[in-house]
Amino acid sequence: TTAGAAEERTSKRCTGGFVDEMRSVAMKLHTKDQAKEGEKETQGKPWRKWEPTIDGYLKFLVDSKLVYDTLDKILDKADFPEYAEFKSTGLERAGKLAKDLEWFKEEGHSVPEPLSPGLDYSIYIEELSKKDPQAFICHFYNTYFAHTAGGRMIGRKVAAKILNGKELEFYKWEGDLSQLLQNVRDKLNRVAEEWTREEKNHCLEETEKSFKFNGDILSLILA
Ligand code: HEM
Repeated sequence: TTAGAAEERTSKRCTGGFVDEMRSVAMKLHTKDQAKEGEKETQGKPWRKWEPTIDGYLKFLVDSKLVYDTLDKILDKADFPEYAEFKSTGLERAGKLAKDLEWFKEEGHSVPEPLSPGLDYSIYIEELSKKDPQAFICHFYNTYFAHTAGGRMIGRKVAAKILNGKELEFYKWEGDLSQLLQNVRDKLNRVAEEWTREEKNHCLEETEKSFKFNGDILSLILA
């Protein structure tokens, strides 16, 4: 319902903790064609006018899988104890992407090797995670949450244009997605309560890098 959607948007904007700040910084970095709260001018083609190809979309899925594999590996290893909080949240995407890539193979497509957008980002977050938990958690938040918001809209649009509307596993979650997201927001808020104002600012300042890397991976859809 419209009321339900409005309520969901309100709850996203206000969780009463640090996630509100993370989200607000992220929303401002969107272009105006991407999101109502976006403040950047649109460069190039507005995303709704993208003309995706299966080959480009496969590149995007392969690089996305690499990044989600890397994120999960980092959380598993938990160089900093707070990473362990974000293990097995139900948001994990690597297994789902593996299934989707299998499906493309069965359909006769060849699945490419990862390219520099995914490789570079994986190396970057892996190194960062060993020394800078605040910055790493910024990437964790942005990558996972972006996919449930804009990522899902893009997926639907691409599927309608080139996959006969086929809904990939990448866009399916077990159980109630808004509850899964809320659980992670609560954990992020709790973890950030232990941070100083400087550490919080440092986390927020990393958002731009997350946009750059994730934007480059999204652009593979058009490659
Ligand atoms: C939220 C669109 C790229 C990070 C949103 C929302 C929209 C959107 C419409 C608001 C959803 C809502 O509150 O109902 C898009 C489009 C993109 C794009 C069309 C590209 C074509 C990105 C990128 C990042 C990002 C590259 C950074 C990695 C986020 C985050 C949120 C968000 C963190 C907040 C999600 C939440 O509140 O749960 N996006 N976005 N987005 N986006 Fe994007």
